[in-house]
Amino acid sequence: MTAPRKYHITTFGCQMNKADSERMAGILDRLGMNWAEDPNQADVILYNTCTIRDNAEQKVYSYLGRQAKRKHQQPDLTLIVAGCVAQQEGEQLLRRVPELDLVMGPQHANRLDDLLEQVFAGNQVVATEPIEIIEDITKPRRESTITAWVNVIYGCNERCTYCVVPGVRGVEQSRTPEAIRQEMVELGRQGYKEVTLLGQNIDAYGRDLPGSTAEGRHQHTLTDLLYFVHDVPGIERIRFATSHPRYFTERLIRACQELPKVCEHFHIPFQSGDNAVLKAMARGYTQEKYRRIIDKIRHYMPDAAISADAIAGFPGETEEQFQNTLQLVADIGFDQLNTAAYSPRPGTPAALWENQLSEDVKRDRLQRLNRLVEVKAAERSQRYQDRIEQVLVEGQNPKDPSQVMGRTRGNRLVFFPGAIAQLQGQIIDVEITQVRAFSLTGIPIGTSLTGAVAVL
Ligand code: SAH
Ligand code: SF4
Ligand code: F3S
Repeated sequence: MTAPRKYHITTFGCQMNKADSERMAGILDRLGMNWAEDPNQADVILYNTCTIRDNAEQKVYSYLGRQAKRKHQQPDLTLIVAGCVAQQEGEQLLRRVPELDLVMGPQHANRLDDLLEQVFAGNQVVATEPIEIIEDITKPRRESTITAWVNVIYGCNERCTYCVVPGVRGVEQSRTPEAIRQEMVELGRQGYKEVTLLGQNIDAYGRDLPGSTAEGRHQHTLTDLLYFVHDVPGIERIRFATSHPRYFTERLIRACQELPKVCEHFHIPFQSGDNAVLKAMARGYTQEKYRRIIDKIRHYMPDAAISADAIAGFPGETEEQFQNTLQLVADIGFDQLNTAAYSPRPGTPAALWENQLSEDVKRDRLQRLNRLVEVKAAERSQRYQDRIEQVLVEGQNPKDPSQVMGRTRGNRLVFFPGAIAQLQGQIIDVEITQVRAFSLTGIPIGTSLTGAVAVL
């Protein structure tokens, strides 16, 4: 490479993609390139894409179209599509957008430097073959200096009938506990305070690693991993996502209660509150089992924050079955719920079924679900009123520079007056004075790390 080049990355989709983007940015930094906030100032543009629903995929094409046009004026522009659309479409993407230089699936994120070398040698490259993911040796360029993602398991071996993830992310591949701990130790040393352990089905962690006990239990479970990493110096908080009700264990709940750094915050998608729909989705649990899990969590940690994902309008879902989803949402009272209308995806079984619902029905159910979610989240927020919460300060309130923002252990966003230069990365006791459905406002009363209350 000659002159230093500027790169830009736009990331779509889930936390996995965000984590992959940070590692790819780390690779580009190491190659001597500089980050450009504005894609129009960059000469290497990477779109890290998502295909979970059709609208996510269409968004990618509209972004790409704009840059493909620019390439006609600026032939040395390098255009890269990474992530899940790249994996799903592969070669076809090159036919659709011939201006592309590189199409690379998520498993190839850590190989970006090799792939770019081929591109700079004049090739148009497609890297979508399944591979064993190379252990991460790059230093990611992380967006935050306080909170960090750490992958623990890649891929997914489930076969939920609506979902593209197994097709685009490949089979489960767990990182070793030692590699995970080492990454966290490094993060602690760099001043990071919070780590979120990531996996599409994080409860599957370790089942592909060698070694199981006499009782047939794997030596490396998520629970064991939490015990193995919880004392990493400097890291004050540990979260994990995403949990799967099929594999979620009481042992894990007890570990969360026992380990002080593990936050009382659970993200456990239920997808539907109806057993027949759950069966058609091939989720492997009933709504009764889901309720039992939540009861168990609340038995050990009455105040735990619970969030989830749900789909409205799955093929064949009747109004009555949808009512069961509403009932579950009403009964459980989620702190947060990510909702979506069902979207048929290429290569998934449910997309081929004939009992698809109309867009109108799906939209209507989604709206009704969202209204209930908002009401319930606002109710759940009420419990924070006048309480003292420990808030890890992450940054400035983008809408009010006299305020900082951070999160409670339960992952509620909190704003309070203060100077970011002083407070960033600290855990502050904040008295909550105003509650909204998805965020809170308060006044600082001290730092909780020292035990004593320091006046700010
Ligand atoms: N691994 C996680 C979720 C991964 S995808 C799990 O097992 O729950 C994130 C969310 O997108 C899913 O929880 C689901 O609610 C939603 N989703 C996935 N495929 C979808 C589809 N075809 N249509 C609508 N929503 C979908
Ligand atoms: Fe998709 Fe199911 Fe795997 Fe989650 S568990 S990523 S919904 S296949
Ligand atoms: Fe999207 Fe891929 Fe994540 S499809 S949700 S970016 S795993």
